[in-house]
Formats: sequence, structure tokens, C-alpha cells
Amino acid sequence: RPRVLSGIQPTAGSFHLGNYLGAVRQWVALQETHDAFYMVVDLHAITVPQDPKELRASTRLAAAQLLAAGLDPERCTLFVQSHVPEHAQLGWVMNCLTGFGEASRMTQFKDKAAKQGTANTTVGLFTYPVLQIADILLYQADAVPVGEDQRQHIELTRDLAERFNARYGRTFTVPAPYILKETARIYDLQDPTVKMSKSASSPKGLVNLLDEPKSSAKKIKSAVTDTDTEIRYDPEAKPGVSNLLTIYSTLTGDAVAGLEQKYAGKGYGALKTDLADVVTEWVTPFRARTQEYLDDPETLDSLLAKGAEKARAVAAETLAEAYDKVGFLPAK
Ligand code: TYM
Repeated sequence: RPRVLSGIQPTAGSFHLGNYLGAVRQWVALQETHDAFYMVVDLHAITVPQDPKELRASTRLAAAQLLAAGLDPERCTLFVQSHVPEHAQLGWVMNCLTGFGEASRMTQFKDKAAKQGTANTTVGLFTYPVLQIADILLYQADAVPVGEDQRQHIELTRDLAERFNARYGRTFTVPAPYILKETARIYDLQDPTVKMSKSASSPKGLVNLLDEPKSSAKKIKSAVTDTDTEIRYDPEAKPGVSNLLTIYSTLTGDAVAGLEQKYAGKGYGALKTDLADVVTEWVTPFRARTQEYLDDPETLDSLLAKGAEKARAVAAETLAEAYDKVGFLPAK
């Protein structure tokens, strides 16, 4: 079986629709066909300040949401990044192979740093993509299921895998991004030209999966569309309507063309009302399942411990090979 690996940050509680449709939904599907490794990236989370108690809680909450979304620990390896120390260890080696210039070109870093200001920007935030490289290469992943905003990081990962292999001999699988065109980018409901995101979206533009379904329904109903009336998928001319159609289509499995027909001659109001129902029907059981996992933290923790054990077996082997290739003296 080919292997996939991906990660999600535990920050700020609830996942949003972009996380789910852009990434997690694919993770669930891929566990059927791939040897799948998925993790909650708590090491990445501390690149910006975190309250220790909240970080612990949100790490559990992230794992609970992944399970509620359909990850099955029998079918995939689900773990917490800090439980596998090899990530930080290979991360250092990769830091020493990554050019300062190429790291400086990472747009996610530039955006976040610009937002925070230089005084609040840590070196950790700067080398964050390099840790992500280690995350991926440790598992010899063939593919990395993510949203469009992660593409540049996967490309850097490919460059570094090739560089390491060229310098030290074939060691790492060169991974490919796995980005589904339709859901690569889910947009802010209030500004459908920018991606839905925790940090950038206004509260009305962001649908958190764990919010009260009523509040999410309201946000869908007040989504920004356009002054036209036609319900047609056209991301260039009609970004708002197209975003709603994408969300509708992926949550229900109905083809976009079918939806266009279904709503032909009807107004945006009808589409929004129905989509609000679709979202409500999806999030209601999701919230209940998440709560069930949270109510039993012992089971959750032991499940994550088992995942970490499985992940470590793979990561340790790769790290040992990389250390050897680099020329580190083995500890006898
Ligand atoms: P993170 O936690 O920001 O986001 C998790 C996943 O959600 C996707 N995503 C979106 N997809 C479509 N539309 C959106 N509006 C949207 N917003 C978020 C992201 O693309 C991502 O796939 N650096 C990563 C975490 C990471 C990782 C890894 C991923 C760490 N190590 C190794 C893959 C492999 C991040 O911050 O994702």
C-alpha cells in the first residue's frame, strides 16, 4: 500500500469547514486505500504563544474531532507529534540543509510574520516548514493530503528530499502533494476571495464545526454572494455562489451540475436555506461524537499512545538511517 501522512494544528479548539473539506475528509477516505499516518501537530502549535493548559486540552480536542470525522485507529495511525521525538531530531538535520533564502520565501511565514510583527515572531515560526519536512520524510510518505495553502511546503519537502538523497545517497521517498481540485480552497463566507481561516476570517465568515449549528446555519444564510441571481459554478465570476456549491456538493455527494439544475430558476435564498440544513445535519452528529470521545479521556489517551508507538517504529528506523548517512557516530 502506498503511504500518506498529514497533520493538523490543535490550536483554537474547533476545526473549521476548510480544514474538514480541504484535508480531513480526504484523510478519512485515504485510510481505506493507503497506509495512513495522521497527527496532531502540537510542536507546530507552539510557534506562536500557547497557554499550556489550553494546549493540552486542544490537543485532545483535535484528536477527538479527527475520530468524530471518521478516522479509525484500526485503519490508520493517529498520534500526537510530540509523542514521537524523532520529528524534532530529523527537523534539526533538515534545518542544516535548508537555505535561509529558501525558507525566507515561504508565503505562510511571511503572512504570519507580517501579521504578528517582527518583535513577536519566533525563530520557530520561521523554521516551521522545515519541521514539516521532517514530519513527512520520517514516514517515507508517497503523498500528503492537504489544502492548497500547504502546497509550497510540500514542494520544499520535495526539494529537500532530493537534496538529501543527492548528497548522502537514496534515503527518502520524494512525496507528492495530494490536493483535490474542488476542495483545495474553501473560502470565507463574507469574503469569498480569501480562504476560510481561523486567523484571518471574520467570525461571520468562518464556520467552526463545533459551534452551535444554529449559529453556523445563520452564517450560511448571510453568506456574501453577488448581485446576479443565477446559481452557477463559476469561481472567477461568482466566487461566493461557487463556494456554497462546493460545500454543498462535498457534504452531500451531489454533483455540482445536479445542484445547478436543482436550483435553476430559484433564488440564492433557496440554496442558502438548504445548505444551512445540510451543514446542520452534518455538524450535529459530529459534535455529539466529538463530545463522546472527550468524555472518555483515558480511552482517547491510550488510543493516542498506541498510535505513537506505531508511528515511532517507522520514524525511528528512518531517523537511524538518516543519522548514519549524515555521519553521526552510532551510540554503542
Ligand atoms: P493547518 O492546521 O493550518 O490546516 C490543516 C489542514 O486544513 C487545510 N485547510 C484548508 N483547506 C481548504 N480550504 C481552507 N480554507 C483551508 N484551511 C485549512 C490545510 O491545507 C491543511 O491541510 N502546516 C500544516 C500542518 C502540518 C502538516 C505536516 C501537514 C504539520 N506537519 C505534515 C501535512 C504534512 C498546517 O498548519 O495545517
